[in-house]
Formats: sequence, C-alpha cells, structure tokens
Amino acid sequence: METKIFTTNEIKQAAKLIQAGELVAFPTETVYGLGADATNESAVKQVYLAKGRPSDNPLIVHVADVATVEKYAQTIPAAAYKLMKQFWPGSLTMIFTLKPGVLSKSVTGGLATAAFRFPDNDATRKLIELAGRPIVGPSANTSGKPSPTTAQHVYHDLNGKIAGILDDGETKVGVESTVIDMSTAMPVILRPGAVTKSQIEAVIGSIENNHHHVGEKETPKAPGMKYTHYSPKAQVTIFDPTTDLTRLNEWLNQQTQAIGLMLSNDVKAKLTLNKNIETYSLGNNLQDASHALFAGLRYFDEHSEINTILVQAFENQGLGTAYMNRLEKSAGGSHF
Ligand code: TXA
Ligand code: MG
Repeated sequence: METKIFTTNEIKQAAKLIQAGELVAFPTETVYGLGADATNESAVKQVYLAKGRPSDNPLIVHVADVATVEKYAQTIPAAAYKLMKQFWPGSLTMIFTLKPGVLSKSVTGGLATAAFRFPDNDATRKLIELAGRPIVGPSANTSGKPSPTTAQHVYHDLNGKIAGILDDGETKVGVESTVIDMSTAMPVILRPGAVTKSQIEAVIGSIENNHHHVGEKETPKAPGMKYTHYSPKAQVTIFDPTTDLTRLNEWLNQQTQAIGLMLSNDVKAKLTLNKNIETYSLGNNLQDASHALFAGLRYFDEHSEINTILVQAFENQGLGTAYMNRLEKSAGGSHF
C-alpha cells in the first residue's frame, strides 16, 4: 500500500478512511499523530502494529469537544473543567477514570483510565468532526524514534504501513503535550510538555510531578515513560553551554571523524568549528529549539557517516523541562 498524502482541502477523504477503519496520520500543534477510529478495536490494534509499539502503552484519545470526554469519563473534576477552559484546544492531555467498558482494552492498555486531548489544529478538528468519532493518536513515528514534526517524517517511518497522512506543514511546538493525571485526588504531571507546571498551577493550584526516569522492570504511571525514546541511529550526547564550551571547542577541534552538532545561533558564534563538524541550528531560543529538536535528530539520521551528535542543553524550567526530558531520553543519560 502506497501511503497517500492529503492536503487540507482533502480532509473529507481522510475522514472516510478513518470511518472505514484505516490509519491516517494527522497534524497537531505538538507533533503528528497516528490516527484511527478510537471505537474500532481492530483499527486501534493496527496502530500498535504499524508503530511497533508495546501493547501495554496506552493511546491518547483525541476529541474536538468536551461532550465526547463526558460521554466516556466516569468523573471529570471541577479542576479539569478549569484546565479545559484555559488550555483546550491545546497541548494538555488529561487522564480520567472511564465508565466501565466504554473503550476497548487496546486503547487503554487494560487500564481503568484513558487520556484525552483536544489538539489545536483546525484541519484535525475538522477531521475528528467529519469522522464523527474520537481518534486515537500516538505520535506517528516508528516506536523508539524521534516524534514526527512534518508529514515527511511520518512518510519516512510509516510509508506502506498506513493509508494516509493529512499534511498541514511543520508543527508549531515540536514537543508532545503535557500529560496530567486528573483521576487522583492530587493531579500529577506524568509527562512534561508545552503547557508548563506553573501555567497549570496558576489555574488550579498546587500539583505534583512524577516523570522521573524509571527502569524497564518498574511500572511507571504513564506506561510510555519506561521505553527507550527519541533515539536516532547515532549516539546523542548533551552539552551544557554554560559550563562546557571551552572543553567542547578543544574536543571538537581534535576530532577527525564527522560530528553532528545541534546548537543555538548565539552558542555557535562562540565556537571555532573545523569542516568535520556539521551543525544543525536550534534557532535563537528555547521555543525554536523545542521546535527543531526532533527534526534535527532525524536530519542526522539521514547522514549515515555521523555516529555522534552533540546537542545543547537548555535550562530545566518551563518549556525547558519538556525539552530536557526529551533530550535526556534521546541521549540515554550521556553528558559531555
Ligand atoms: O502531543 C501529543 O500528546 C501527541 C499528539 C499526537 O497528540 N501524542 C503523543 O502520544 O505523544 P504518545 O502515545 O506518543 O504518548 C502518550 C503518552 C504515553 O507516555 C502513554 O503511556 C501516556 O501518554 N498515557 C496514555 N494513556 C494513559 C493512561 N490512561 N494513564 C497513564 N498514561 C497514559
Ligand atoms: Mg510517542
């Protein structure tokens, strides 16, 4: 099957495929998702197969209104309504306890809860409305690879495995949504994302964080957090521009093999780089860097001679918490 790329004038055709139980990747403001009818068990199973995703890692249910969440969730606390009002459509995924038996085991990985999100993308909002049902959507990459921020990234990983891709250009944010568990007395952030802890706390007061690294044998609250993620073929190593620059400059100048270097423009201006060093710009600030991170890791994957990629750290705060969470996973803890 050749995967068809749909423009935003062809949403109807994409919606028909979803209704027919086919897989169609869709744009969001964070990353592209791999869409299927959330109410069609065999379509949802295909999503795991196409990605090579472990079956105990549940999927986010994408909606285009609050009413659909009310149809499935057992209880939606008042704080959750406040968060929806403030951040939907947008990069906040909320977990609720489900009414029994309303969503298949393949959506929830057998959990009594499910994750819901209303993405901020007009084409996808229309896709969900025309399909007339919620759409599951993990990031549309092969499991373990960096998440896709363009339709071309999706095509690269999934061509031949899915029916279509709805192309709406580059995603704005570049890192995935914040996942917050609203099924517990105290809301807990399970995955940091574009909506920051302090933005959430400004709306509902104190919340907790639970997105530390866990080993393969532990059961984290967000099952996806235990798996290797965002890994290109090359080894990724993190450097800190506030402490490592002198040593980095010396080391880079000693290298005879090709090295990939992902860094912001101001940091690049402070280094003297020989011709073995291939750079990928992270732009001018943290926002730019979050937008460019996954695309940069994928860029170097296309350059097979590069075995080492050094990537700039940013301050672990605000959006930087999401950026560093993805980068730490990609590097598997490797620091310069
Ligand atoms: O920005 C995003 O969230 C993107 C776009 C496409 O919407 N989607 C995305 O999905 O990143 P995915 O499947 O790659 O990541 C979903 C995360 C996983 O870590 C998963 O384990 C967690 O959410 N999750 C899903 N349902 C859950 C549940 N019921 N309880 C705890 N964690 C859950
Ligand atoms: Mg993912």
